[in-house]
Amino acid sequence: MAVMIFTAIFSKAETKSCDTITINVNQRGADVRNGMYGIFFEDINHAADGGLYGEIIENRSFEDLRMPDGYYSKGKDLFAPDIPNHKTGLVRHRKYKWTTEKVPAWSASDSSRVSMSLSEDNPYYATAPTSLILNLNGKVSEKSPVRLINRCFQGMAIRESETFRLRIIARTTTNKNERYKGRIVPSIGDVNIKLPQNGRWIDTTIIVKATPQQANMASADGKNTFSLEFDARGKIILDYVSLFPCNTFKNRENGMRRDVAQLLQDMHPGFVRWPGGCVVEGITLNNRFEWKKTLGDVAARPGEYNMWGYRMSYGLGWHETLQFCEDIGAKAMYVCNVGLACQNRSGEASDENEIEDYLQDCLDAIEYAIGDTLTTWGKKRAEAGHKEIFPLEYVEIGNENHGTEYDRRFNIFYKAIKEKYPHLTLISNHGANLSKNVDKTDMVDPHWYRGPEFFMGNTHYFDKIKRGKYEVYVGEYACNRRVGPGNMLAALSEAAWMTGMERNGDLVTMCSYAPLIESGLKSWPVNCIWISPTQVMGRSSYWVQKLFADNKPTYNVGCSPDMTEPVCLEGDSLLFRQKDIPMLPRQFFCAGIDSINNELIIKVVNVTDRSYKTVFNIVGLNNKTKGAATVTILKAQTLQTENTFENPLTIRPQTDVVSVYLPYVGYELPPASMAVLRIKI
Ligand code: AHR
Repeated sequence: MAVMIFTAIFSKAETKSCDTITINVNQRGADVRNGMYGIFFEDINHAADGGLYGEIIENRSFEDLRMPDGYYSKGKDLFAPDIPNHKTGLVRHRKYKWTTEKVPAWSASDSSRVSMSLSEDNPYYATAPTSLILNLNGKVSEKSPVRLINRCFQGMAIRESETFRLRIIARTTTNKNERYKGRIVPSIGDVNIKLPQNGRWIDTTIIVKATPQQANMASADGKNTFSLEFDARGKIILDYVSLFPCNTFKNRENGMRRDVAQLLQDMHPGFVRWPGGCVVEGITLNNRFEWKKTLGDVAARPGEYNMWGYRMSYGLGWHETLQFCEDIGAKAMYVCNVGLACQNRSGEASDENEIEDYLQDCLDAIEYAIGDTLTTWGKKRAEAGHKEIFPLEYVEIGNENHGTEYDRRFNIFYKAIKEKYPHLTLISNHGANLSKNVDKTDMVDPHWYRGPEFFMGNTHYFDKIKRGKYEVYVGEYACNRRVGPGNMLAALSEAAWMTGMERNGDLVTMCSYAPLIESGLKSWPVNCIWISPTQVMGRSSYWVQKLFADNKPTYNVGCSPDMTEPVCLEGDSLLFRQKDIPMLPRQFFCAGIDSINNELIIKVVNVTDRSYKTVFNIVGLNNKTKGAATVTILKAQTLQTENTFENPLTIRPQTDVVSVYLPYVGYELPPASMAVLRIKI
């Protein structure tokens, strides 16, 4: 039974005082690419470790205090070596977040009976050499054990019957016949770890399961910690402690947190851009993201200091990302480093003779994804369990690089990659107007992080760009100024901007909101999805992204006007930057045909705190009769409203089926809302 959730469609008689929007279904506009709406994944705000990636233990490999060569810390600040920017010759002094914890994320229940220190002696894996030495002394016994506690990022959720894979790499140098009982606290079970006395490493994996009673004891908000309990004196050396849920997305070992991955899949992204973002470039070059170090046994992966303030474990690596793309039916986009570190940070440039190493590294990443199994890297993919090629289709050459040195390197990369892989789409970091130093690119990738007035005031930006030589991929954009942690004003201003991108689908063939995820540590002001141990929540912007992706037309049709006249409204001074107030349009429209389902799709956005009545005059229809429309509406109480963990679905789309009398469709849009009308034609 269809439930009336609003009475927004009204008859022609009521339309006299309304704006009329003429939609001409015979006036064919730009095509819209099938995979136009994608996602940009970067490990920022703990998006990977502690976010999408399933691992529960923070600093599982004890590598978190390792810093790139030449870096040093003072208290909670980390400093990079003085390297001059290749463009300006100047050194930029910037500090990065560091920690004063002795062993990050780990603590002991009773420091008088256990001492903790880190060591790189006799490592299990030379590539991840750090281990934790525990000296259990004093009265440690079965009756009076000592706990080693991990804070598990924001905490750990424990659900009844949930199973986990516990992997421990450990050894002891104690020469007594001690047995250590490891108990996982609070509640997922007991394990016995028997360490041989010969000092050799053991690498053991045990499946543990939460019982109903244990799950009941756990804190419901997911703020549980994980402990190993030791009940005998001696010296234990831990190289790796991992607790991984078995119930991952598509049950992949070393996979993604199921609820988070599902929310991403629900966006139906056409592509996934990875691994960044600034992490591709690094503060300095020795801090760049290195995909080759993300392959193989997770315990051997060294990780890297992440410029956003913590260490990435590299657990969610190139193979896992490609697998995820395949699992959600998205194309992969790899972003490579051209031998330039972040130009907002050090701006270091590699030596001339190293450029070919960076290029080779990129070619190898491509080969890993799509090379046949006789190639060096294709063979490694097959050995990792995936014989078939992965769906890699795009390569972005650099991230947010610019200037003549970048242009020169871009030309070298473009030519070499195209020669070997002519079918791949190659993307440069340029804005919509390409630098004259560039020989050829398939796409450019401009980024916009601005206030709402920018997005509402520039929906015609792409109308004016010359067509022909390359397409535009808007790889990062978000309204993140003067909108707090994000609100409906931000989401609707993005929706307004997206009507402009969609209308210009011949030029803007791909786009992705950024950043995607915020999980605990916030390194960026506004993000699309928020994660807690027990919840994952789409902000209003998430729903706007999903509405556009789910209602993508095959091609645009005439829609005139596509926005209302700019006005100044009471209360604007609270919402917008002062100088832009008088001239902002408030309602935005676009329309297109979904030729698979034979439907006209109309999108309409209302960025005001009052309702808005309009009538769509649909020109060019053969059947001018009563018909049915599906109306999906996203609305909020006010423009300042946002979803919260307490009320995560305050703003979410609701769909209803209503009768319409063609060719006139009167529609009343509620305050602070966006709607998608789908009409069978
Ligand atoms: O999305 C956050 C950052 O913004 C990205 O790392 C970078 O590309 C841009 O500056």
